[in-house]
Amino acid sequence: MAIKVVVPASTSNLGAGFDTFGLALTLYNTFEVVEGNQFEVEIIGEGADRLSKGEGNLFLQAYRRTCQELGIPCKPIKVVQKNNVPLGRGLGSSATAILGGIIGATALGDVNLSTDEILKIAFSFERHPDNLVPALVGGFVTCAVDGHKVYFERIEFPKELQILVLIPEFEILTEEARKVLPREVSLKDAVFNIQRATLFISALVNRDFELLRVAVEDRLHQPFRGKLLKGFNSFKELAYSLGADAVFISGSGSTIGVFTRKNADQIGKTGVKLYGEMGIPAKYLVLEADEKGTRWSRA
Ligand code: HSE
Repeated sequence: MAIKVVVPASTSNLGAGFDTFGLALTLYNTFEVVEGNQFEVEIIGEGADRLSKGEGNLFLQAYRRTCQELGIPCKPIKVVQKNNVPLGRGLGSSATAILGGIIGATALGDVNLSTDEILKIAFSFERHPDNLVPALVGGFVTCAVDGHKVYFERIEFPKELQILVLIPEFEILTEEARKVLPREVSLKDAVFNIQRATLFISALVNRDFELLRVAVEDRLHQPFRGKLLKGFNSFKELAYSLGADAVFISGSGSTIGVFTRKNADQIGKTGVKLYGEMGIPAKYLVLEADEKGTRWSRA
């Protein structure tokens, strides 16, 4: 049997929603899986030169763990990973491999798992619901974690907003980007974030896009990570001067996310030029919200 699993990239945090908000994007990694005599991995595209093709391959790890959890035979497979999601840029590339492996195992094993059961396995790899949940279910989600349980709600993402991602050619490891964050925050800063995170949701629901600029400000991560992410503050200023509605660090960076109703290409080109002047290659993509999440089909 041969199957194909398609998993979207995702942007997370979106300003004040640190570890809470996530949005699936129309940029995908695909995993073509066929039963074979031995385990084999081929990687095409992003990370082909350095991602593990052996025991350390995240897709295979997730595939194996899922088979174990389900008590089904772990059939040897060949997987061809076609990666479009760049690594270490805050676009949820590892979440795609984890979900790909889990869904690959359930599809080949002819087992149906609920969303909660899939998330439970996924969470044993990565405790970041803000990438895993949108990549699994699609759309814009808010997440809350209670122990090992993830609660989430999905809301409609407004079609009026274009989603631009500016991707500079350097990586920021989430682990490193978490180390720069304060362990404790003041009540004042906690309130600052609660106010903006709730404003953000209300602004999306009511399509009050003028408010987004205020709503993506936060005091929990961007002020600290902005120092790691060269170019963020200058680009933010330029993007707003060109009419952007919201500018934020995507996940833990290095990608910068923009919501805009106008001048998307101009904003993207301006960002690429800005990084070029700093001697850093960069590219931009204009995307939409992915509404389907992870899906699979027989190949
Ligand atoms: N919410 C995480 C962080 C993103 O900002 O560290 C990684 O999924």
